[in-house]
Amino acid sequence: MHRGEGQGRPCRSFPQCTGGAESEGQAPTSHNAPGVAHFSSFRQAPPTMHRAAARLPLPGPGPLRRAAAAWPRRALCGEAPALVRASGPGVARRLRGQAGVRPGFLSGPEEAALGRELEPQLRRRRYQFDHWDGAIHGFRETEIAQWSEESQEILQRVRGTAFPPGMSPLSLVHVLDLDKSGYIKPHIDSVKFCGCTIAGLSLLSSSVMRLVSEQNPEDWMDLLLPRRSLYILRGPARYEFTHEILKDEESFFDGQKISRERRISVICRNLPVPPAPS
Ligand code: OGA
Ligand code: MN
Repeated sequence: MHRGEGQGRPCRSFPQCTGGAESEGQAPTSHNAPGVAHFSSFRQAPPTMHRAAARLPLPGPGPLRRAAAAWPRRALCGEAPALVRASGPGVARRLRGQAGVRPGFLSGPEEAALGRELEPQLRRRRYQFDHWDGAIHGFRETEIAQWSEESQEILQRVRGTAFPPGMSPLSLVHVLDLDKSGYIKPHIDSVKFCGCTIAGLSLLSSSVMRLVSEQNPEDWMDLLLPRRSLYILRGPARYEFTHEILKDEESFFDGQKISRERRISVICRNLPVPPAPS
């Protein structure tokens, strides 16, 4: 349905998402205004086209720019290196601060509270085992705008941790319920509907997320996502690498089996940033 709609020029993203690389890109000639996206629009199968999006300049000097520039170091400083394995030191360096996992982000009671809120909404839907875009198997999903006060506090904490100041988070939060047999194939989230940062909570099960470079498929990084952790992908990790969640049979991290049970993810994204007026 929406697949391929994001194939135009990408929206601009902040360079802090690239780890501070300076601008080499051209300003985009047109802006893909974010429309109303069905959650299916979030996923695009590769190949995609938005490498330049990660290299575009910030809107201009000022406090927002300074705050944003300081943000990447702060936001992922709690990441756990043991939860990340890269194909080599080059990839590890390139994705440092761009792909990270925070174990224990949720307490047990917080996970339970989110689960109590989500279960009735998910139960109304059927697991799908053959999705139209082929990117995902054995899942049901929804988007939620209204949350209990307790959940709102958790989501605020996610946003405060993951998003740079001044960025507009999408008001709808994506909830994805993967059956034990479910998995997500390699894809890149639509650049039309989602900005430079993807932040996801993992409920009920640990899993392995694999990032693979679109340009050099031998470059990869595995992230171990423990139950109750938060992961953050941004910049190159979001634009230049596909991400996937491995199926149970293939769910190994550093040679160790990571049993995949039913898993619910709660994913916060931000809006693509419109280009500065010329
Ligand atoms: C997606 C996706 C990852 C997750 O829905 O696009 O990549 O953590 N989900 O469920
Ligand atoms: Mn995705």
